[in-house]
Amino acid sequence: MKTQVYWAPGRVNLIGEFTDLSGGPVLPAALDLGVRIDAAPAKAISLVSHELGGAAELAADGKPLEGETDGWARYVAAVAIELALLGRPAVGLEGEITSTLPIGAGLSSSAALEVAVGLALCTVADFPLEPMELAQAARRAEHRAVGVPCGILDQAASVLGRAGNATLLETGSLAYEYVPLPEEIALVIVDSGVSRRLESSGYGARRDELERAFAALSGHDPHELTVAEIDEIAHSGGLDPIAARRLRHVVGESERVYEVARLLRDPSAANLQRLGEVFREGHESLRLDWEATTPELDLLVELAYEQGAVAARMTGGGFGGSIVVLARAKEAPALADAVVTAYGDRGDTPARAYICRASDGARRLS
Ligand code: GLA
Repeated sequence: MKTQVYWAPGRVNLIGEFTDLSGGPVLPAALDLGVRIDAAPAKAISLVSHELGGAAELAADGKPLEGETDGWARYVAAVAIELALLGRPAVGLEGEITSTLPIGAGLSSSAALEVAVGLALCTVADFPLEPMELAQAARRAEHRAVGVPCGILDQAASVLGRAGNATLLETGSLAYEYVPLPEEIALVIVDSGVSRRLESSGYGARRDELERAFAALSGHDPHELTVAEIDEIAHSGGLDPIAARRLRHVVGESERVYEVARLLRDPSAANLQRLGEVFREGHESLRLDWEATTPELDLLVELAYEQGAVAARMTGGGFGGSIVVLARAKEAPALADAVVTAYGDRGDTPARAYICRASDGARRLS
């Protein structure tokens, strides 16, 4: 069989950060940046990447051929192992991986790699999976590869994306619907240049703190509580201050997801103004309650609003990475340049801006 081309996009999350750790809603868009694999069926897995450096040389079921698997090959191995556990016949894959996604920018380069590899391995073995089955296998692979207890956001966003839309996904039931993005709005992503890697961030610590908060709520369903009720429980000594802050973020953030979806569906001037406020509230909640922003991300958000952004906030797993900006399409290039320049004037690390289109999800290109 000849070489075929597979594609899986990265994602930007518009709002709904860390809500997937407790089955809450998220609102990501798949990007026109992603991972491409040009490969043909083979006996074993042999994938090279000039950008990432090195190669993945594995048995078709993901087992190492010799020595230890390291670097990005861990993701490839983990996906192959997860698919083998689902019954995928052991057909290998030989070819090349290329990526247009910046690494460490918080745009889900690892999820895009997992999904692209999963799609390619399923196709060569004639082992079709439903989109969400593929996303779940890719998510388990992330846990297996680097031990990060992530939610389903990144992998689902990569699989489900639809051009011109964001995906409103309930991460508990996995029900989803599309929310069209207003045509006059462009997506600008600004990478702070402070690189993040899920495996070394405070991600796992936050997840533990949230679970502690849930455990302390004996009897209360956290998803039924309002922010005011959480404050009351904390005040009466039922929650320690850290647990209360983490919980307040997750509950408030879920409400913001639904509000943003409503506002995007009816982008009147007043609603776009409100969108800016909700994004600001979301960023403040990540800064003060979830404590996952960095001074660089805070600065970028301020600069984006100064330059006329409709809305701006940190996006993704935090502790570095990028902000997402909704800008008026005509103003987007100038805004992106101005933010990057002003940020460069204030510090040593250069930022990089990407004007992106919400795009279709993972698929075979040929
Ligand atoms: C990372 C994780 C996701 C999600 C986000 C924060 O990207 O992989 O599952 O928790 O952080 O929203």
